[in-house]
Amino acid sequence: MNIAIINGPNLNLLGKREPNIYGSLTFDEYLISLKKEFKDIKFEYFQSNIEGKIIDQIHKVGFTSNFILINAAAYTHTSVAIGDAIKSITSPVIEIHISNTFSREDFRHKSYISPVAKGLIIGFGIDSYRLGVLSCLK
Ligand code: DQA
Repeated sequence: MNIAIINGPNLNLLGKREPNIYGSLTFDEYLISLKKEFKDIKFEYFQSNIEGKIIDQIHKVGFTSNFILINAAAYTHTSVAIGDAIKSITSPVIEIHISNTFSREDFRHKSYISPVAKGLIIGFGIDSYRLGVLSCLK
């Protein structure tokens, strides 16, 4: 089983960025714990602040990964192009958010990913990723 994790803009600052919302762990630290817990899964991790690079990565892993977990961060709410990229591939995509976007500002209620995702895991803190991995094992 291989799972690609794709993180969007500002998620490189996890651990430092608004820790009251996003927690105090860096993603690298969290990824170590995921790899320890799921030893049989091969994780391919990618983060970019640039929309086109995220799209290139979706194209790259989107025909070979068993699953993609994507947290497109703010691009979730704006990017028709990321939604179209997900429509263009064959790997199932799970939309992840650390915070509950529906309990926040109205502009975070719109997602271009949700209609083209297999499922959504939102609002469980950084463990949304872990729950996403568990959903791939069913
Ligand atoms: C986020 C929620 C988005 O609204 C926000 O722009 C982010 C992070 C989350 O994981 O909670 O950058 O995707």
